[in-house]
Amino acid sequence: MYTIALIAQKGGTGKTTLAVSLAVAAGQVGLKALIFDLDPQATACNWKDRRKGDGPVVIDAQPSRLAAALEKAEENGVDFAVIDTPARSEQSALAAAKVADLVLIPCRPQAYDLETIPNTKEILALAGHTPALAILNAVPAFGDRHEQARAFLNRLQIPVCPVMLGNRAVFGDSGAVGLAAQEYDQRGKGAAEILQVYKYILSVLVQQKSKPKKEHHEQQSRPGHIAG
Ligand SMILES: Nc1ncnc2c1ncn2[C@@H]1O[C@H](COP(=O)(O)OP(=O)(O)OP(=O)(O)O)[C@@H](O)[C@H]1O
Ligand SMILES: [Mg+2]
Repeated sequence: MYTIALIAQKGGTGKTTLAVSLAVAAGQVGLKALIFDLDPQATACNWKDRRKGDGPVVIDAQPSRLAAALEKAEENGVDFAVIDTPARSEQSALAAAKVADLVLIPCRPQAYDLETIPNTKEILALAGHTPALAILNAVPAFGDRHEQARAFLNRLQIPVCPVMLGNRAVFGDSGAVGLAAQEYDQRGKGAAEILQVYKYILSVLVQQKSKPKKEHHEQQSRPGHIAG
């Protein structure tokens, strides 16, 4: 089973949007996907309530029960577990980072998001240096903010996903009806971006699983390793 966690101490960076989109992407290629929603706002659970189709199952979870819940999920044949966490909760972020194979840090290319990244990095260190990947989200069509954000993240030695998500209405519109962007508009740019992000993440996870744990933690903390 692969376990990914969405963590960002800033609110509204795209944690839940990515959590549901990636879980749906895994389901679309035949994996059994499950979302653990650690957020008391229950955004992912509410998304599931609006959803008409099958899967992914969304579980309303507590940080202290997460490890046990994951074990149970693996016993039940889950292939791809996604943990969505609330903003500004070190307890949830730490619990998720401890059990995840890979932490994804969605980040808008703007100062308010970027200035919270060192705090997220501290949580990753406390969790035992879980491999992490920042994903630039809601990137405007014009300007070079994403380049500046990428440079900032490189300086902090946080690897950055080569695929970015643009600022697109489809992410909000799809969530409002319990769908992922790639279901709402299969041929749209948002769909293409999510599928590329999913493929990239899966390649990182597969690569990681083939290495001893200590080694992959060390390598992932070096920028350029993943992108290379
Ligand atoms: N790439 C994008 N383009 C446009 N809007 C986006 C994008 N990603 C997310 N959004 C919108 O931004 C808002 C916040 O996204 P989301 O709920 O996924 O963030 P979050 O990090 O889970 O927030 P919270 O910290 O409150 O849990 C939502 O309205 C969502 O539709
Ligand atoms: Mg959320």
